[in-house]
Amino acid sequence: MSIEMMMNTIEKIATPGKGILAADESLGTIEKRFKSIDVITSEEQRRAYRSLLCTTPDLAKHVSGVILFEETLGHKDDQGRLLPEVLESQGIVPGIKVDKGLIRLANTDDEQVTQGLDGLSERLEKYKEQGARFAKWRNVYSISENTPSLTAIKAGAEMLARYAAVCQELGIVPIIEPEVLIDGDHNIEQCAEATEVVLNELYNALFYHQVELEFTILKPSMVLPGKNCKDQSSPQEIAEYTLSVFRSVVPAAVPTINFLSGGQTPVQATVNLNAINSLGDQPWLLSFSYGRALQEPCLKAWEGNVEKINAAQSTLLHRAKLNSVASIGKYAAEMEAV
Ligand code: 13P
Repeated sequence: MSIEMMMNTIEKIATPGKGILAADESLGTIEKRFKSIDVITSEEQRRAYRSLLCTTPDLAKHVSGVILFEETLGHKDDQGRLLPEVLESQGIVPGIKVDKGLIRLANTDDEQVTQGLDGLSERLEKYKEQGARFAKWRNVYSISENTPSLTAIKAGAEMLARYAAVCQELGIVPIIEPEVLIDGDHNIEQCAEATEVVLNELYNALFYHQVELEFTILKPSMVLPGKNCKDQSSPQEIAEYTLSVFRSVVPAAVPTINFLSGGQTPVQATVNLNAINSLGDQPWLLSFSYGRALQEPCLKAWEGNVEKINAAQSTLLHRAKLNSVASIGKYAAEMEAV
C-alpha cells in the first residue's frame, strides 16, 4: 500500500518537462515576501495569495507538484474548495513542508541544523488525511573558512535521513533538501567541494536508514560561486560543475533532482537549469522546485490587489513555462518576451 502510493506519487511528479512550485514559506518568510510588495500579512492575505497560485489556469501543463505550508492544507479558494483538492483536480500533487525551521548547532561556528523530528509521524498522518502525498525538509550549510564543518554535515545528513525514513513508512515521498547557501564570497570550486561532501554524507545516512531512493526526490542547490564572489561563472561552467559533482555522488536510483533557486534571479535560475539540461542525458530527471524564482514576478504583478489576480497568474504561468522548457534544455532568451 505504502509502496504503491509512493510509486504513484513519483510517477506523477517526475513527469519530463514539469517541475515543482514551492509555496511553503513559513509565517516569517511569507511576511518578508509580502513586505517586499507593501502588503501587510494576515491569514486572509496568505489564503488569497496561495489560492491565486493554486487556481492559476493551465498551471498543470508545467507544474506537477506544489509544496504547501501547514495552514494552506486547510485553506479554501473563493469558491469554497480546499486548496489541496483544487490542485488534485488538475492532476497536480499537493505536498507539505514538515520541518520546523533552523536552530543553532552547538559546538560549531554558528552553523545551523533543522528541527522537527519530534511528533513528525503523527503530523504526517494528519497531513496525509488532508491530501498531502509528498513532504519537504530543508537543511542548510554555509560556506566559509571553517564551514561547513563535519559536525554540521553529519548532523544534517542524519536528520534528513531520519525524516525521509519516517515519511516512507507512511507512504509519503520525501523531498530531501540539502541547501548549500549562496551567501558569501567563496568561488565555484569551494562550492563544488562542499556540495560533494554534503551529498556524499547524505547518501551514506540514507543508506543506513534504509531509505528507498527510488521513492525520494532530491532538492539541492546548484553548484554556484557565492553571491559576493568577484568571479561569477558562466551558465556552462555552472552546469559542468553541478553535473560533475552530482554524477560522482548521487545514485542513479534517484528518479528526479528538482533544484531550489536559492537566491538566483528568476532569469538566472531558468538559464542555469537550461544549461544543466543541455549537457546530454543523465541518470535522473533534472527539473525545478523553485520558490522565489517562480513567485517573485508573480508577487510583484499582484501587489495584494484583487484586480491584478489575472495578471499575476499569467506572470506565474509564463515563468513556469520557461522553467518547464529549461528542464528539457529547450529554453532561449527570446522566450522571455511575452
Ligand atoms: P527558493 O527557490 O526560493 O530557494 O525556495 C525553495 C525552497 O523551497 C526553499 O526551501
